[in-house]
Formats: sequence, C-alpha cells, structure tokens
Amino acid sequence: MEPRDLSALSPYVPGRGAEEVARELGMDPADLTKLSSNENPHGPGPAAIEAIRETAPRVGVYPKASQTDLAERLANHWDCTPEQIWVAPGADGALDYLSRAFLDPGDRILAPDPGFSYYRMSARYHHGEVTTYALRKADNFVQTPDAVLDAYDGERIVYLTTPHNPTGSEFDRDDIETLAAAVDDRTLVVVDEAYGEYTDAPSAIGLLDEYDNLAVTRTFSKAYGLAGLRVGYGAVPEAWGDAYARVNTPFAASEVGCRAALAALDDDDHLETTVETARWARSYLRDELDAPTWESGGNFVLAEVGDAASVAEATQRRGVIVRDCGSFGLPTCIRVSCGTRQGTRRAVEVINNVLAEVRA
Ligand SMILES: Cc1ncc(COP(=O)(O)O)c(C=O)c1O
Repeated sequence: MEPRDLSALSPYVPGRGAEEVARELGMDPADLTKLSSNENPHGPGPAAIEAIRETAPRVGVYPKASQTDLAERLANHWDCTPEQIWVAPGADGALDYLSRAFLDPGDRILAPDPGFSYYRMSARYHHGEVTTYALRKADNFVQTPDAVLDAYDGERIVYLTTPHNPTGSEFDRDDIETLAAAVDDRTLVVVDEAYGEYTDAPSAIGLLDEYDNLAVTRTFSKAYGLAGLRVGYGAVPEAWGDAYARVNTPFAASEVGCRAALAALDDDDHLETTVETARWARSYLRDELDAPTWESGGNFVLAEVGDAASVAEATQRRGVIVRDCGSFGLPTCIRVSCGTRQGTRRAVEVINNVLAEVRA
C-alpha cells in the first residue's frame, strides 16, 4: 500500500517554535524571544481569554451556532452578507476552500515568488499546478499589476499578498482593481490580507460588490493573537457565496476558536495596542538594525544579513529566534517579527552583535 505520488508536494517549513528550540538548547522557553512566525507578542486579549474559559464546558457539542454567529458578526463588520463569509480553520483553511471550489485537476495557479508557500501547497493538494511571478529584490519587491501580468497566462487562480510575507511590500487597492479587470473572466484573484490590520490601506473586501472574480482571505492568527486556535475566513462575492456549503469541511472551525474570535472582534483596545506596538517595532527595527531592511506594512521586517542560516542559528543560540528566509528563496535575508518593545530591543541587540562578529 502506498499513497499517491507525493513527490511534487513539499512539506511546509514553519518558523521554529520556542519550546522546540528551548528543548534543543536546554533553555527555559520563557527566556527565548520568538520572532520567527509573525505572531502577536501580546498573545490573545483578555476578552478572548475569557471567552475561551467560558466556552470550555460547552465543547461537547459540534460548533454550529458559533460559526453562524461569527459569519454574521464579520458580515456586519465588512458590510456584506453572512453567505459571503467563509469561516475556516485559519486563513490556510480558507485558501483550501477556494482551491476546492475553483481548481479542476491540472488547473494552474499563479503565486508570488518569494511568497507564502501554502498557495502552492494547497494547489498541489487539489491536483492543480503551480506557476509563479517574480517580486524582485532589485525593485524592492514592489508589487504591480505588470509584475503579475507579465507572467500571467490564463491561470485559474492568481494570488496577491498584501502586506506581503516575507517582504512587507503592499499591493495598492487601485492596482488590485486594474488586475481584476485585466485577467480572464475565468480567473479568480485571491487577495491574502493575513496582515491587513497592520496597514492603513483599505481592505479589498470593499471591492467584492464590483468584481465577482475576487476573493479576500483574513485571519485571527496575527493581530488578534489567536494563532493556536486556527480561525480565519474568506470573503467572497455574493454571486458564488453559496459554494461554501459544498466545499467546507463540516465544523472545521472550532467552538472555542469561533467564540474567542467573536470576543476578539469586540476588543478594540487589544487590537489597538497590538497594532501600535507593531508600528513602533517596525520603525525600531528599520532604524536600529545594522543591516539593510525593507519598508513593511506587516508586523515584521525583512533584513539583508549575508548568510541568513548562520545568522539565524547564532541569534537562536543567544535566545532570539528569527526566520531564516532560505525557504522563501532569500538565503541572504532574515525576517524579524515585531515583538514587544522589550523583546524587539533585545532582538536588535542580539542580531547586531551577531552581525558585528560575522563581519569581524
Ligand atoms: C501571508 C499569509 N497568509 C496566510 C497565513 C496563514 O494564516 P493562518 O494561521 O490563519 O492559517 C499566513 C501565516 O503565516 C501568512 O503569512
């Protein structure tokens, strides 16, 4: 017995976890500063924590009302209908639902390179094929319709990430409109706004009334501090919102996750603190790191450090975990997530010391 040919599928490479690294180094995880996965350094807010506690006695039943409540709450927030909100286990889950709804075997997707690897993985899981468009370091990873259209050849799904992981660059909303209008009728443009809360740019969800070939994905993993609960969603045009019922995994977003997400949506203070800290950390990283960096709309900064694998390993030995971007095809770059003020200052000190030693 063997699984199907999985040779074209590559495993996801996550940022390294604090517990895993602590075990390896014989350290207490609390002594590590983990800035490798763009998580919220403040964790979940008090309202979400309270909702998690309150929900605990009710997890014996399948989550039905909570998913409906979350879709309604989000529809209210985004001024669309609940049918347009596809609640999912993380934004990754929403990407899978879009793959399920759109890809026939052999259909191609067009994804950014460098870029978030799950677009490619999801396409391959669904028997699709992958092509890429380049975001060039020489152009500061600028995102333009031309960069996408130069590579575009009628793919079934085109992925945009704004703010973009791992570079931080953004795709203008006017440019998203240009692109949605330029591609074939059969092409879906997916705008991944996993880091949308950290930028002032308006969400592309506002365009769903005008373009029926657009979908937007968002998550509670980043600014809402709920990565461990796996809740995200897709926002889609009204015209095909009802496809959700045919493609979603039943009850895949958990009762605890949905209740925590609902509470987090009402906790403006926590979101404000989170975004404010990230903005401070972003400028601190850009001002203080002894390495070239790129402007970022997200809760992370990309830095050019030379041999990223050695630098990341050396900072890790000193208790600061950053992301070596080799797996993104950027072997000379690290990505540093925005930490608390204290964590970010510590990270900068450690990274600068490592860089000084490497250069000496
Ligand atoms: C660009 C991008 N999209 C989607 C995700 C997935 O988010 P989730 O945790 O909601 O699955 C991530 C997570 O790192 C990401 O960086």
